[in-house]
Amino acid sequence: MTPLRFAALASGGGSNLQTLLDRIDSRELPANCVFVASNNSRAMALDRARQKGIPAYHVSSKTEGSEEGVAVKLLNLIEHHSANLLVLAGYMKKVPDAVLQKLHNRVVNIHPALLPEFGGQGFYGHHVHEAVVRQGKTATGVTIHMVNEEYDKGQIVLQRKVNIPSGADAETVGRLVLAKEHDSYWRVLKAFAEDDIVPTDSRDPAHAVQIHPRWLEQMRALDV
Ligand code: GAR
Repeated sequence: MTPLRFAALASGGGSNLQTLLDRIDSRELPANCVFVASNNSRAMALDRARQKGIPAYHVSSKTEGSEEGVAVKLLNLIEHHSANLLVLAGYMKKVPDAVLQKLHNRVVNIHPALLPEFGGQGFYGHHVHEAVVRQGKTATGVTIHMVNEEYDKGQIVLQRKVNIPSGADAETVGRLVLAKEHDSYWRVLKAFAEDDIVPTDSRDPAHAVQIHPRWLEQMRALDV
C-alpha cells in the first residue's frame, strides 16, 4: 500500500476540505494533505489549510499569466509535494488536461446531486439545489466520482441519497446535502488509502478505478 498523499483544489468555503483535515487529525483517515491550491485568493479553504500548517497556494490565470501557466504551476506543485491523488473540494474550474494526464485515474470530485441528474456545465453549488427544488424532487444526494476530460462524467465511486422534506427550500436542501458530503468524502479517501479503491491504468473512463465489493457493501449499509 502506497501512503496516500493527496492535494486538494478548492474555490470557496472549504467545509469539505475541513472535514478531511479533521478526520486526519482524529486518525480516522490515514493520509496526508500535502498542499491546497485555490483559484481564489480569498478562499477560506486556503486559511483552513494554513491553520493546519499545510502549504496553501493561490493559483489562477492572474497569478500565472495564462491557463497554460496554471497547468504548469499545478504540475510543479504535484511533483514537488509528491501528491498521488488530487481531491476536488468545491473547485469551480476545469482541471487542466495536462494534470489529468499526469494523475491519470487519480483525480476525484464531489458533486452535490445524484449524477447524471443535475450535472454538467452550470450545475454547481447552490444552482444545483435550486434546480432540484424547482423540479419538485423528493430526493437528491451526493456523488463522488473520478474526473476525466468530460465534465461530471467520470466513474462513480459513491452515491448517497438525501430525502427532501416537503416544502424545503434550496437552502435547506443544500444544508442537508452538505452534511451528507461531510460524512462521505473522507470515507472515499480512506478507501483509497486502504486499497479498497485502486486506480487502474485503463483508458476506459468507466474503469478508472477498481472498487472492492466489500467496501461497497459497507457504504450501502450506512444508509439503511
Ligand atoms: C459542495 O457542495 C460541493 O459538492 C460543490 O461545492 C460545494 C463546496 O462546498 N461542488 C460542486 O458543485 C462541483 N460541481 P465547500 O467549499 O464548503 O466544501
